[in-house]
Amino acid sequence: MSAQIGVTGLAVMGANLARNLARNGYTVALHNRSIEKTDALLEKYGHEGDFIRTESLQELVDSLEKPRRVLIMVKAGKPVDSVIDQLVPLLEPEDIIIDAGNSHYEDTRRREAALAEKGLFFVGVGVSGGEEGALLGPSIMPGGSRKSYESLGPMLEKISAKYKGEACCAWIGTDGAGHFVKMVHNGIEYADMQVIGEAYDVLRSAAGIEPAEQADIFTEWNKGTLSSFLIEITAEVLRHTDPRSDKPFVDILVDSAGQKGTGRWTVVSALELGSPTSGIAESVFARGLSSQREQRLLAQETLKGHESSVELPESFVEDVRLALYASKIVSYAQGMDMLGAAAKEYGWELKLDEIASLWRAGCIIRAELLDDVMKAYAGEDRPANLLLAPAFAEAIAEAVPAWRRVVATAVQLGIPVPVFSSSLAYYDGLRRKRLPAALTQGLRDLFGAHTYNRVDAEGTFHTQWSGDRSEIEAVDTH
Ligand code: 6PG
Repeated sequence: MSAQIGVTGLAVMGANLARNLARNGYTVALHNRSIEKTDALLEKYGHEGDFIRTESLQELVDSLEKPRRVLIMVKAGKPVDSVIDQLVPLLEPEDIIIDAGNSHYEDTRRREAALAEKGLFFVGVGVSGGEEGALLGPSIMPGGSRKSYESLGPMLEKISAKYKGEACCAWIGTDGAGHFVKMVHNGIEYADMQVIGEAYDVLRSAAGIEPAEQADIFTEWNKGTLSSFLIEITAEVLRHTDPRSDKPFVDILVDSAGQKGTGRWTVVSALELGSPTSGIAESVFARGLSSQREQRLLAQETLKGHESSVELPESFVEDVRLALYASKIVSYAQGMDMLGAAAKEYGWELKLDEIASLWRAGCIIRAELLDDVMKAYAGEDRPANLLLAPAFAEAIAEAVPAWRRVVATAVQLGIPVPVFSSSLAYYDGLRRKRLPAALTQGLRDLFGAHTYNRVDAEGTFHTQWSGDRSEIEAVDTH
């Protein structure tokens, strides 16, 4: 018996993907650096399907049908290169190496190009859904060459999550496109969690609503337009009481958020692309600030807030829901806009409707909203920005008064709402007729002769600031 796919790296994610493949009827060859993990998996779950136990990469490769498919699930970075280096001499042209970890898309581009020279396919695959998703059906975002997808696609589609029967897996684009899209998914995940956190903070700090009661509010919200996995699990976490202290579980957690790097990568890439992804950036910075515990302790004693009291409107809880919804839409709009910019930069034909459709089930940001995002980008009339799609323009217009009230209230009470407020600033910036960027251009021209364009004439100009202040036509140095 030969295996249809081999999996190397059997920590939880790798093990669960291997089990998912086997449960779907594929024969899976297993390999791990230490054989104990392989044996543990076989002992516990060997009955779930057809597995082949292998003790070395050579044995793994020998056990595979051709063209071979080897899925790597090891820590991103050097470990991936190390496994690739060991595998390459054992493989033949047309064989496929699949990297299903959270690798940086630039690494994936580099690896794909290097392996293509050897006639091998390298496919960077974004996989989302955590441990449970890997086992029961994740959202899958494969990059690499289109040809590799012919052999790999049916398998990945079979093990992926399904949204109303549709597989949450489709070929995203060449080389690192899959990992890029997964990275942006994670950036949006950061923003989603941050806006949930801001809603929780405002409800608690401004309106005094305790976690258990908030759990009911989030459960209610989960029935409407905010319906999503993250809102659902927010209710679960807020409802939980710590058995050791009998306090709300959220109160015994140290308030410093960790991060493995994908959110940060998204922001670095957004900056490089010149894409105004402020919601994701503020979410990453908010995690950074939360982790500066020493400074925060000093500041709590030293820095004054001068908060003023605010009378909350009756509609406050609903206001917060709308602020959360509007900010969430802005984060998605920014993420999608960034994908558009990346498609141009890297020559990918990213289909934004399809990407939104893959995120409707299986992944961490799965949400009702994504079905609407998909519909907004489907068809000929693709909006220049998600916010301009009629359904979203209307939804935001309805939310704006409440959104402004919540941001104003939070500002007056000294409650930080970086994503609520920066998303509102993005929205207002986008719709504003004249931006102070005009003044920025004037300043740049004065101190650095950086030139400017006029609203009333074609061409590029410079004012001779240190001379007679007459204007000359200039070479564009924008
Ligand atoms: C997923 C998640 C996952 C990510 C974790 C942790 O889609 O399944 O995005 O890939 O690694 O959520 O991310 P942070 O540690 O950076 O929060």
